Amino acid sequence: MYTDKMLRDDALKGKNIVVTGGGSGLGKAMSHYFLELGAKVAITSRNLEKLRQSSHQLEQETGRRCLPVQCDIRHYDQVESMLQQVLETFGKVDILLNNAAGNFISPTEKLSTNAFDTIIDIVLKGSKNCTLAFGKHWIEQGQTNTVVLNIVTTYAWTGSAYVVPSATAKAGVLAMTRSLAVEWAKYGIRFNAIAPGPFPTKGAWDRLLPGELKERFDLAKKVPLKRVGEHQELANLAAYLVSDFAAYLNGEVVTIDGGEWLKGAGQFNILERISPEMWDMLEEMIRRNSEK
Ligand code: COA
Repeated sequence: MYTDKMLRDDALKGKNIVVTGGGSGLGKAMSHYFLELGAKVAITSRNLEKLRQSSHQLEQETGRRCLPVQCDIRHYDQVESMLQQVLETFGKVDILLNNAAGNFISPTEKLSTNAFDTIIDIVLKGSKNCTLAFGKHWIEQGQTNTVVLNIVTTYAWTGSAYVVPSATAKAGVLAMTRSLAVEWAKYGIRFNAIAPGPFPTKGAWDRLLPGELKERFDLAKKVPLKRVGEHQELANLAAYLVSDFAAYLNGEVVTIDGGEWLKGAGQFNILERISPEMWDMLEEMIRRNSEK
């Protein structure tokens, strides 16, 4: 069953992981699975109260150690002190999951310059801040077998109307993933990314499909597999990519979207609406035309 847990017990034992934006949504779901697999996890966000509640819940549910650390990833000094706090508590850190993001839908001409900057700052600058702080630390310490996993989106390469700051920033994160996969391989740091399709969470859905938009645009219908993703499916992929089983995977972006973006891309994909009877008629017409 696709919602089953994929990796064997203790697959992440001995690994210390930082998940930015780990207090809610997909970050929390991935953190939950990492803990179940034996990792220690630090979750970060701006809201310490929410983080404390989430880490308490995660510890109760998994019986493992989950550390809440307040950090606005837009500020490099806060990222450095977050890293120090994780090191003081866990002794070392092995994996960074750049998951925290910011997004909302808007016609681009309605955005203030600060609105555009806010998304770029959270998504691109935030991922850069964490990557740079953790990378410098690992390189200075000579610590190898470390991993950065970035959450991007399929519109990082297709682009997308109405979420232009997010698309612009995620494209930058993807470029950073591929660039550093090569540059920092010599330091034993692996870089990969996941491009998730629709995995409903309250935070994202309230921002991206507010009110009646949820009913008007059923995202499951856009997916060839006719469903949205289950959080465990994403957690399975993330756990594999950060684990030692993926030691030879470097610089890759793995799309997990049920075929959603390709459906929008293929020139003749619209022909899906044609019925079997209609296909019979069309075949006859095409054959007749080619006889002429
Ligand atoms: N449409 C247009 N502009 C908007 C907006 C919207 N829906 N929401 C916020 N803005 C603008 C604000 O007006 C402000 O610009 P201004 O100073 O010119 O008025 C700017 O964006 C920053 O907003 P602010 O609320 O001060 O920023 P914040 O740092 O508190 O919040 C957000 C950042 C806006 C991204 C907020 O939605 C957030 O915290 N999101 C985190 C979670 C998230 O988005 N996850 C991703 C789910 S897909």
